Amino acid sequence: MTVQLWTHCRIATLQAGHSAPYGLIENAALAVDSGQIVWVGPRSELPAELAACKTREHDAGGALITPGLIDCHTHLVYGGDRAQEFELRLQGTSYEDIARAGGGIASTVLATRAASEEELGAQSLKRLQALLSEGVTSLEIKSGYGLSLAHERKTLRVARSLAGNQPVEVCTTFLGAHALPPEFAGRQDAYVDEVLRMLPLLHAEGLVDAVDAFCERIAFSVAQTERVFQAAQALGLPVKLHAEQLSDSGGAELAARYGALSCDHLEWLSEQGAVAMAKAGSVAVLLPGAFYFLRETKLPPVAMLRSHQVAMAISTDCNPGSSPCTSLLLMLNMACTLFRLTPEEALAGVTRHAATALGFSDRGVIAAGKRADFVLWDVAHPAQLAYAFGANPRLKTVFKGEVV
Ligand code: NIG
Ligand code: FE
Repeated sequence: MTVQLWTHCRIATLQAGHSAPYGLIENAALAVDSGQIVWVGPRSELPAELAACKTREHDAGGALITPGLIDCHTHLVYGGDRAQEFELRLQGTSYEDIARAGGGIASTVLATRAASEEELGAQSLKRLQALLSEGVTSLEIKSGYGLSLAHERKTLRVARSLAGNQPVEVCTTFLGAHALPPEFAGRQDAYVDEVLRMLPLLHAEGLVDAVDAFCERIAFSVAQTERVFQAAQALGLPVKLHAEQLSDSGGAELAARYGALSCDHLEWLSEQGAVAMAKAGSVAVLLPGAFYFLRETKLPPVAMLRSHQVAMAISTDCNPGSSPCTSLLLMLNMACTLFRLTPEEALAGVTRHAATALGFSDRGVIAAGKRADFVLWDVAHPAQLAYAFGANPRLKTVFKGEVV
């Protein structure tokens, strides 16, 4: 055993069922061996045999330690930007009108197709680095701006390679059913056929960890989404869904029937949908950046999600159209100010519950047996992470046991 010990800290473990808020331990110690947490607790209770195996002791200088942050819903790999669309929206055109007129996602599809793998990688790396600078250690990246086999492959390959030399783990999600590409105009079902052809090929190349769709009146119907889910299920891939963002389409109920890892957005979620999600154990991924940027007024039903004990995660939704955001810390603040989550719920939403939303049981909390992904912060209390917006109090990130 070669134990690295972290002392002189307080630790927000975020462990479920811990007696203190945030699972907070004062005067704490954390022992790490081979990239894994082997012990956490009050310094005074550190077992002597662990102290004896200590090869290095890190003085955390009184920092707060939390689990590494997890951004469980991003469209981080895309070409171009949509600043002009932002200007149009400021003049009064709605997001849906722009999409119907062939702008919106379709314009990002053109820019993404035009970009080489290298260009896409370089543009996306900057966004990834912004997230990492705030303590993100795992994130999800969706495809969905390529919308053809070659361009979806390119997007997913960039997503995979981004993790290559960065201290972060990336999960990839195939979102072929994000929008209708121009060459399929008026032929929605034919495009779903094409999505079903792409999925097994991309999966066979090891590029797909999960499958998502955009179930909405401007995107795909419940019946079309179900075809995508059936194909995912046949390959043993987990599903998730962009559901009830702009209207109640009943997507969450469908996703729950397929045991979805998560249903995301959910402003228009019905009680039936929440009940189905609770039964299936699907996480509600709330995206305050998109709500804010599209100036939505319909709030996600947070009280209802709480009453049905649906776990809530928070994410950036980093994408060029509805949330050009690379700050997960800002999302903590917005989840509290806009959606009225407590700071503790918000922090659990970017750690423990975000892990569940990605199907990870080995991270998201600080506990023995979990991965040693954690962050040291220059704050006295965990609520400060959600309270101060525009601040970045990160001191250090530890990824798989090693200081980044
Ligand atoms: O999560 N809702 C669909 N997809 C993205 C937005 C995509 C875009 O506008 O480029 C979202 O909000
Ligand atoms: Fe999204």
